[in-house]
Amino acid sequence: MTNEIYVPAGGPPRVPPLSPEIYGRMGEANIFLMIADFYNELEQSAIRDMFPDDMAASAEKSAAFFVGLLGGPPLYHTRYGNPMMRARHMPFPIDEAARQEWLACFNRTLERAVAHYDFPTEHLPAFRAFLEGFSGWMVNKK
Ligand code: HEM
Repeated sequence: MTNEIYVPAGGPPRVPPLSPEIYGRMGEANIFLMIADFYNELEQSAIRDMFPDDMAASAEKSAAFFVGLLGGPPLYHTRYGNPMMRARHMPFPIDEAARQEWLACFNRTLERAVAHYDFPTEHLPAFRAFLEGFSGWMVNKK
């Protein structure tokens, strides 16, 4: 059945926590700018229709999550509650092609992240590995 929910084999990825040095260097403002940039990429992408008309509001929510993930205060938890990311993505049919499009948008943003948002170069490989692993867990459709 094509409507069946797909569960990636192996369950949630076991990815090492990201270094809080990332938030230490960038600060909240740069992380918000980086995620706004990422949402600009999404806005021009093949998966644009998955997102609401108001991309700015979506970007703010995601930025709150990434602040916590990169070692800052748990803004997302405080504002919106338990992230439960796979569950929150369930309303959107995410297949491997959608994941690749999402990752491509993020990768384009990360090419500019050191120069534009002071992302510490030495932590880029770990962040890319995190996005690669965690995005696999968001896939819910064959
Ligand atoms: C695999 C590809 C992915 C796709 C296609 C995707 C797509 C989406 C969509 C359509 C929304 C809803 C936007 C809205 O209603 O405002 C969303 C929300 C969000 N996504 Fe993703 N996403 C993906 C992966 C990820 C990953 C890997 C992360 C985190 C590392 C993430 C973090 C978030 C956050 C924090 C939100 C806001 C949740 C909320 O509504 O509270 N997404 N995503």
